[in-house]
Amino acid sequence: MKILVTGAAGFIGSKLMGVLASRGDEVVGIDSINNYYDVRLKYGRLSEMGIMLNDEFVWNQPIQSSRYETCRFIRMSIDDRHAMEELFEREHFEKVVNLAAQAGVRYSITNPYAYLQSNLAGFLNVLECCRHYEVKHLVFASSSSVYGLNSKVPYSEEDKVDTPVSLYAATKKSNELMAHSYSKLYGLAVTGLRFFTVYGPWGRPDMAPMLFARAISNGEQIKVFNNGNMIRDFTYIDDIVEGTIRTLDHVPVTQKSSNGVAYKIYNIGCSHPVKLMDFIHEIESAMGHEAEKIFLPMQPGDVYQTNADTSMLKREIGYEPMVTLHDGVAKFIQWYKSEKNPLK
Ligand SMILES: NC(=O)c1ccc[n+]([C@@H]2O[C@H](COP(=O)([O-])OP(=O)(O)OC[C@H]3O[C@@H](n4cnc5c(N)ncnc54)[C@H](O)[C@@H]3O)[C@@H](O)[C@H]2O)c1
Repeated sequence: MKILVTGAAGFIGSKLMGVLASRGDEVVGIDSINNYYDVRLKYGRLSEMGIMLNDEFVWNQPIQSSRYETCRFIRMSIDDRHAMEELFEREHFEKVVNLAAQAGVRYSITNPYAYLQSNLAGFLNVLECCRHYEVKHLVFASSSSVYGLNSKVPYSEEDKVDTPVSLYAATKKSNELMAHSYSKLYGLAVTGLRFFTVYGPWGRPDMAPMLFARAISNGEQIKVFNNGNMIRDFTYIDDIVEGTIRTLDHVPVTQKSSNGVAYKIYNIGCSHPVKLMDFIHEIESAMGHEAEKIFLPMQPGDVYQTNADTSMLKREIGYEPMVTLHDGVAKFIQWYKSEKNPLK
């Protein structure tokens, strides 16, 4: 099967690209390699996939993976409409996984236009190309942040999600609405995945697991927001990738129960939410050091808790995340301390 993965130098996209290529799919990965965080991580993830590039690399030109015969990477932006049309015209993708986005809740407070460009204009290009070039299934990354101010837990896909507390969350909810309209108008089969706090090797340096590990290893204080009174449904990267691939293989069909639209939304989280302080203790014990902590108030845009009801994913796709926090943190810290980590 020929698959496009956008955001392929990112945390989730790079791992997904490798797993798809290793099962024999033909994969084209694209990414703008923006500098929202240290690009050494993006180059490092790509080099794990056998894709070597640097800052001088030419845009919009494919580079062959030396590790996977069926895998190529192109540095390009999903918000470049012309380049996207050329790519789809040339490649004839059967399926698309859109992970490219400006991520991060806190950054959306200070850099709102980055979200407009990648998450809205870029996503519109993805939808337009999928419908014009007859893609059989589009899977895209939504986020647990769409649950915003909801207080009923666990969060269910059937709950109303009309109270986002960050522009990031608002763009993810917008993606769900945009995708639904394309599914209804053009018969495009679409699945949105609401990811819940993903962590693991090659993770994002703007997220708590990496921030904590780095501070502990440098003997710096860790910032504990809302005085530690937060709950997160941490989900290990391998579980996210496995769930995404199983979903990609399961094309939604038009049903009366879904108003005749081939459109689905699933939560994909571990469903074992933990208190932030317990998560910190897990990192401390894997690092072998106690962190010096500074307790701070809640940050704007953050939510107190995330907690996924994944029964729909289990019922319809036959999958639920399984890696325990203890095992996942151990694997993450093992990578963090290894020579592979370019930010160590
Ligand atoms: N990691 C999580 O916990 C989490 C949780 C919820 C949702 N998500 C979503 O999952 C997706 C993947 O997240 P991630 O953690 O791998 O993030 P990431 O930032 O590591 O990866 C996203 C990649 O997209 C690229 N990108 C951004 N704008 C682009 C554009 N216009 N064109 C091409 N590439 C572009 C970036 O360079 C980056 O490499 C994102 O859509 C994110 O919003 C992630």
